[in-house]
Amino acid sequence: MALGLGSGTTSAMFIQELGERVKGGLKVHGIATSAASQKLAESLSIPMTTFEETPALDLAIDGADEVGPGLALIKGGGGALLREKIVESAAKKFIVIADGSKLVKQLGKFPLPVEVVKMALPLVTHRLEALGLNPKLRHHKDGSVYLTDENNFILDCSAGVIADPAKTAADIRSIVGVVEHGLFLNMASFALIASDQGVVEVGR
Ligand code: A5P
Repeated sequence: MALGLGSGTTSAMFIQELGERVKGGLKVHGIATSAASQKLAESLSIPMTTFEETPALDLAIDGADEVGPGLALIKGGGGALLREKIVESAAKKFIVIADGSKLVKQLGKFPLPVEVVKMALPLVTHRLEALGLNPKLRHHKDGSVYLTDENNFILDCSAGVIADPAKTAADIRSIVGVVEHGLFLNMASFALIASDQGVVEVGR
């Protein structure tokens, strides 16, 4: 199978387990959603591919920051939202893996990341402010500005409950200079949600 490999701590656990299975003879190859996941997969000798060689993926597996009704997701807490959306949109199936703390009745407690071309930062910031989305430029803990794998900025938007995710997604997408946003709507096939009682499958 051709697999999309997610990013973040949950996906890292999945990639570790996949590495074990590959050692045991499982035949897969993967495309990673971040430089960190690429490095991890390579360190475990998981064969990696590219979209030139493999334009369609059988399955993508990735974590999420929030899983809302209809499997509407907020992703990008780790900053990999652009590559994640590219990889997950190229997969026939996309499975979300998360623990129960990520399951929410309404999206919006977790800040919504918006990836922005550097030059457009002031313009996009004003447009997001006008939408009431409270954008804040993402920084590293040491105070330096965060840059994505694609060398763009991230504005984290926190405006409380996202009552209409499709409208918010469309409003953000209409701003020139926005590269991508962390609302993943109608993309996940199902979610595997872990708790102390075990793992349950949540559908749309
Ligand atoms: C990375 O950019 C994100 O979309 C992650 O998938 C998300 O932040 C979940 O990460 P954790 O598994 O670390 O919570």
